Amino acid sequence: MKAWIAKAVGALGCAMAFLASSASAEPVTLVISADTQQRSWTVDVLLKDRRLTNVTVEDENLKRRLTFRAIPVAALLRGMPVAADATATTAASDGYVSHLPMRLLLADSADAPRAWLAVENPARPWPRLKGQSIGPFRLIWTLPSGHAASVVNESLWTYNIVRINITASPAERFAAIRPAADQPADGPVMRGFATFQRVCFSCHSMNKVGDAHLGPDLNVPYSPVEYLGDDKLVKLIRDPQSLRWWPDARMSAIDEKTLSEADLKDLLLYLHHMAGRKGT
Ligand code: HEC
Repeated sequence: MKAWIAKAVGALGCAMAFLASSASAEPVTLVISADTQQRSWTVDVLLKDRRLTNVTVEDENLKRRLTFRAIPVAALLRGMPVAADATATTAASDGYVSHLPMRLLLADSADAPRAWLAVENPARPWPRLKGQSIGPFRLIWTLPSGHAASVVNESLWTYNIVRINITASPAERFAAIRPAADQPADGPVMRGFATFQRVCFSCHSMNKVGDAHLGPDLNVPYSPVEYLGDDKLVKLIRDPQSLRWWPDARMSAIDEKTLSEADLKDLLLYLHHMAGRKGT
C-alpha cells in the first residue's frame, strides 16, 4: 500500500515536472532513435517541414472526424537503419508505451494503413481528451477504403509522444515474457501473447520486465487470474470501474474493437500459462 502511494506520488511529481517544463520556454522535442542513430525535432521545425500536409481521419481517440497537420512516419524514418521486423517503441509523457510492428509504420502506399505523425500548432490547439492535452505529437492512421479498422485499433493511436525507439521486438528483448518454447506458434497461448503485447504491455510489466510501469505487474507476486479469477478479470478489462471505483483510476475500459472476445479468451490462456512461469 505504502509503495503504491509512493509510486502514485512519484508519477504525480513526474507529471508536474512535465507541466513545468512545457510551461517554460524549453521547446518540446520528439526524438527517434535506432541503433546509434538519433534524430530530434522541435514542434517549430516540424511545423515548417515541407512534407507536412492536411490529413483527415476518423479519430480513434477523440471519436470524431478531424483534420490534422501531419507527416508520414515513413518519411521521417527515411535513411535510418530500420528493419521491417523491428519494433517501434513509442513512449508518451505519461508513461504509456506502445510497441508497434515496424512494417506497419513503414507502409507507404495507398492500399495499406498509413501512419502519420500529427503535429500540434500551439496557435491552433487540438481538442482535449478527458480534459488533457494529447499533443504536441501523436500517431494518427489513414485506412484504405474497405479496410477493417480493427488492424489499427485505438491502442496504436498513441498520443503525447516524446520518444520513438526502434529496437528488436519485446519478445526478443524480454525473455521473461515468453511462453514455454514448446507452445505451438499458431496456438492460443502464442496468440494470447501477441494480444498481451499489443494491449496490456503498454502499461503493465510481466515478470517484472517491460518498458511501462503505469499499472502493477501482471504475474508477480500473483497473476490476476489467480487472485481475481477469469470472470472478475474480464469484468475489470472491459470496465475497470465496474469492479472497484475511485476517481483517479488510470486504466481505461478496453472494448471489443480493441480486444475481441476471441482475443480476450486467448489472453486469459496466456496469463494462466504464465502463472506457471514466474521466473524473472
Ligand atoms: C492505459 C494503460 C493500461 C492498459 C492498456 C491496461 N492497464 Fe491494467 N491497469 C492500469 C493501471 C494504471 C492500473 C492501476 C489501477 C488504475 O489506475 O486503474 C491497472 C490495473 C490493472 C489490474 C488490477 C491490478 C491490481 O491488483 O490492482 C489488472 C488485473 C489489470 N490492470 C489488467 C490489465 C490487463 C489484462 C490489460 C490488457 C488487456 C490491461 N490491464 C491494460 C493501466 C492499464
